[in-house]
Amino acid sequence: MADGAVLIVGGTGGLGRELAAHFVGKGREVIITGRDADRAQSIAAELGGKASALGCDLAQPETIASALESVGQVDNLVLSAIARDENPVRDYDIASAVNLSTMKLVGYTETIHTLIPRLSDESSVVLFGGRAKDRPYPGSTTVTAVNGAIATMITTFAVELAPIRFNAIHPGIVGDSPYWENKPLDAVLARTPTKRLATMEDVVDATVFLLENRSVNGINLYVDSGWLLM
Ligand SMILES: NC(=O)c1ccc[n+]([C@@H]2O[C@H](COP(=O)([O-])OP(=O)(O)OC[C@H]3O[C@@H](n4cnc5c(N)ncnc54)[C@H](OP(=O)(O)O)[C@@H]3O)[C@@H](O)[C@H]2O)c1
Repeated sequence: MADGAVLIVGGTGGLGRELAAHFVGKGREVIITGRDADRAQSIAAELGGKASALGCDLAQPETIASALESVGQVDNLVLSAIARDENPVRDYDIASAVNLSTMKLVGYTETIHTLIPRLSDESSVVLFGGRAKDRPYPGSTTVTAVNGAIATMITTFAVELAPIRFNAIHPGIVGDSPYWENKPLDAVLARTPTKRLATMEDVVDATVFLLENRSVNGINLYVDSGWLLM
């Protein structure tokens, strides 16, 4: 089992931060990133243990290599950063769409490209997509498209960069995540067979499985309580 550094890109908030707390609790060296270095460092201080932080803006992919210059060997890389883009086609906001597309498509890939020399044959990577790839809603065109792209990008990474393992996790609506916790979710629950939405703890558990199971590679794992069945 790897016990070197865990780098969580987007580890300053939501699911990334929850995952960081898990690995800090296991005594691992954890590096979290967010856009602002000072904010990221104060969150790393809250996490305690062997947590540290860097500023890295995925929407500025040309800056990623220098932003990650101080990072050493990485055993587990998690790409969870997101910018919300509720963007109806009738009122299309180009800047918002470009921001999210750049972050997830180019930013995630450039992060991996930058870190290749610091990953080992035993390293593993998890990319965050989401169930909006299969369950669209008005305004989700960019989100649906980038999450669909995540589902396919892991396959090229796993082939090109073998034997490093690449998997993706696609949560449904995570009811206790900061983005959703105060929003009305009765309509989502009504279409969820278990009548129980995925929790942050469930997503952390599934992400750890993808990172640590040495035979799981090129998988898209859905953590959505069976939402798409109804
Ligand atoms: N929450 C859900 O229910 C849900 C459902 C399906 C899929 N997901 C997926 O799960 C992942 C995590 O979602 P979340 O809800 O936990 O997110 P979140 O709470 O909104 O956190 C987003 C993270 O992304 C970082 N970030 C934003 N813009 C960035 C940029 N340009 N460059 C680098 N980092 C940036 C933020 O850091 P700073 O603000 O510090 O920059 C923060 O750490 C996402 O990929 C999302 O698509 C979540």
